[in-house]
Amino acid sequence: MKISFANPSKPKSGTVVVGVFDGRKLSTSAASLDKSTRGAITKAIKASSFKGAKNHSLTIMTPAGTRLERVLCVGLGKPKDLDERAFETIGGRIYAALKAQSEKAQVLLDAAPGCGLSADEMAVHVGIGARLGSYRFDKYKTKKKGHAKPVIKEITIQCAGSAAAKRNFTKQNKVIDGVFFTRDLISEPSNVLYPKTLAGEAKTLAKLGVKIEVLDKAKMTKLGMGALLGVAQGSAHDPFMVVMRWDGATKKDKPVAFVGKGVTFDTGGISLKPSAGMEDMKYDMGGSGVVIGLMKALAGRKAKVNAVGVVGLVENMPSGTAQRPGDIVKSMSGQTIEVLNTDAEGRLVLADALWYTKERFKPQLMIDLATLTGAIVVSLAGEYAGLFSNDDKLAVDLEEAGKAMDEKLWRLPMGDAFDKMIDSPAADMQNISSSRGGGSITAAQFLKRFVGNTKWAHLDIAGVTWEKKGKPTTPKGGSGYGVRLLDRFVADRFEK
Ligand code: BES
Ligand code: MN
Ligand code: ZN
Repeated sequence: MKISFANPSKPKSGTVVVGVFDGRKLSTSAASLDKSTRGAITKAIKASSFKGAKNHSLTIMTPAGTRLERVLCVGLGKPKDLDERAFETIGGRIYAALKAQSEKAQVLLDAAPGCGLSADEMAVHVGIGARLGSYRFDKYKTKKKGHAKPVIKEITIQCAGSAAAKRNFTKQNKVIDGVFFTRDLISEPSNVLYPKTLAGEAKTLAKLGVKIEVLDKAKMTKLGMGALLGVAQGSAHDPFMVVMRWDGATKKDKPVAFVGKGVTFDTGGISLKPSAGMEDMKYDMGGSGVVIGLMKALAGRKAKVNAVGVVGLVENMPSGTAQRPGDIVKSMSGQTIEVLNTDAEGRLVLADALWYTKERFKPQLMIDLATLTGAIVVSLAGEYAGLFSNDDKLAVDLEEAGKAMDEKLWRLPMGDAFDKMIDSPAADMQNISSSRGGGSITAAQFLKRFVGNTKWAHLDIAGVTWEKKGKPTTPKGGSGYGVRLLDRFVADRFEK
């Protein structure tokens, strides 16, 4: 679907979308359309229960006095509640209302008293919301029955200052390309997406100017990545680590690093998971999916930042070659780990990925993303991702970016008392806590042992990576949570 922008003109035919505020208050465009139809809009609204509340809409077919096919009145609610995210939701709802109705539509937007955004800013976010809502993962559906496929091809958004809207949207659209890439990767089944093919997907970013290096098993063995390799050893698929670099700033700027857990399928290994719901574990590479999508977004919009993305790609399988509970492995850092539960594998992968990233790039700060614990789903459901950090400013900056983009983070505590819970009698540490409770925190404590003095934050995205219900801008499936949050974080912290 194409989103385009145009300056206001009177629509003569087709489908038109106008806004109506709470209390049946017509927007300027709605009012002028009402006038030219001798009150058809007000009449229809009066005859219905639609009052302009947000999330409500009313479709008027072939209003008298025009050649328009239909007018979609979308509820805008109260002007003071309308921010960027609200317009994105409206955009997503417009898309949902129109997708099966018409091939083209014109959305008329005008500045409104009491709303902080200009018409062209509204237009950008309605466009973003419509495109985000239009995402589909249907490549494996071979039968096209009924209205399964949307018919909508183009939405034109009319507003004053459409040139500015177009310019802005074009840039933001690159970020959506990143979000869509992440959603695609998360949605792919694990027979198609395994370490090698996921590395292959990351390689496609080379065409955007991202420098790619792929570390194979031999190289990782040489580097001493015994923690990551231990997880991989039960699988027929070899592990890989991919390093992506986007150099958008001057050489002397130390990079910001993003590290992702890329377990392409997590059976639990010998500590096998129960079968109910195990299919969800195809998205256990979600952290790496976000890192790859984020690199695509940053490179796509030519962000003025030096960014490094590192993803550890493995499959966690039970087999005759799999690691056993009680095995002791040596990580690249030299620290030894007693693997008490082979299902606590994400932290083992990240241990080596984080250490490698810190040693090689000496980043000014490092952020990892991982579908790390079921416990974070218990704590925060799908509403927030868990945030853990050794640096208060970094934590606050991330929280702010999350709030701004409506990809929310909730910080959890860390500390020595939790750290002690992963001390092992047999090795330097064990991969699960010996006491009950605080499972997401002890997992974060484990990671902390591999970041040294680097400013670091860990985002546990187990609860937010898969959208179960579907929202106007996030259809059911891989959510892409984290791409827009971190893009905003980069923009605010490094590009201002
Ligand atoms: N990949 C899972 C965590 C997960 C759970 C992701 C639900 C997405 C949705 C992780 O590898 C795992 O198995 N964690 C264990 C850790 C436990 C063995 C200490 C868990 O949370 O149960
Ligand atoms: Mn696991
Ligand atoms: Zn896992």
